[in-house]
Amino acid sequence: MLIIGIAGGTGSGKTTVVQQIVEELPADEVCIISQDSYYKDTSHLSYEERIKINFDHPQAIDFDLLVHHLKELKKGNPFEQPVYSFVEHNRTAETVTTHPRKVVIVEGILILTHPEIRQLFDIKIFVHADSDERLIRRLKRDIAERGRDLDEVLTRYQNTLKPMHLQFIEPTKEFADIIIPTNKYNTVAVNVIRSIINQKLSKNES
Ligand code: CTP
Repeated sequence: MLIIGIAGGTGSGKTTVVQQIVEELPADEVCIISQDSYYKDTSHLSYEERIKINFDHPQAIDFDLLVHHLKELKKGNPFEQPVYSFVEHNRTAETVTTHPRKVVIVEGILILTHPEIRQLFDIKIFVHADSDERLIRRLKRDIAERGRDLDEVLTRYQNTLKPMHLQFIEPTKEFADIIIPTNKYNTVAVNVIRSIINQKLSKNES
């Protein structure tokens, strides 16, 4: 099993990189785990209280559950991955059964902040896009897909996203084996990652 961690700031293009990587892998050889699935259960809070949560701080994430699930995968066991709603700001009642696969991809803004999780990764990737690029993408996405308005996104960016990025996310670049620049769609870097995966997989088989 090859476990790949993909970190990078909000709007850096992690999702696109993951899609590019998995595109050519057979569906039964890869599974994806998103850090977003591991936002702590906040059902005990009201909606008004939930929107005040700092979602870009490591404390918002149930890392214990993520560690537990990654260990289950390593033992060869499936697990139930929670499903998160960005509109409700909460976990939903659903889960997705996630099966152990040859290639496991874990993606999220804060996944390289956790020492135990870092150790579980065979390859650590940091996806880099400039902050103006990330803000533009974030604005477009939050308005189109996550039910937010312009003012709400900009306020959250200034008060929370930017300081949290500088404090927690950017410093984890240091732990990366590979940094992928994603100001533009990057095919070359993804091809390099793909060949590393193929190399490792064929070695593991022999
Ligand atoms: N977030 C939010 N509302 C919530 C929970 C999280 O807006 N209820 C935001 C956090 O503020 C955090 C972001 O979700 O900044 C994390 O997702 P992000 O990295 O932006 O999305 P991905 O699709 O994983 O990554 P990328 O944009 O790089 O593809």
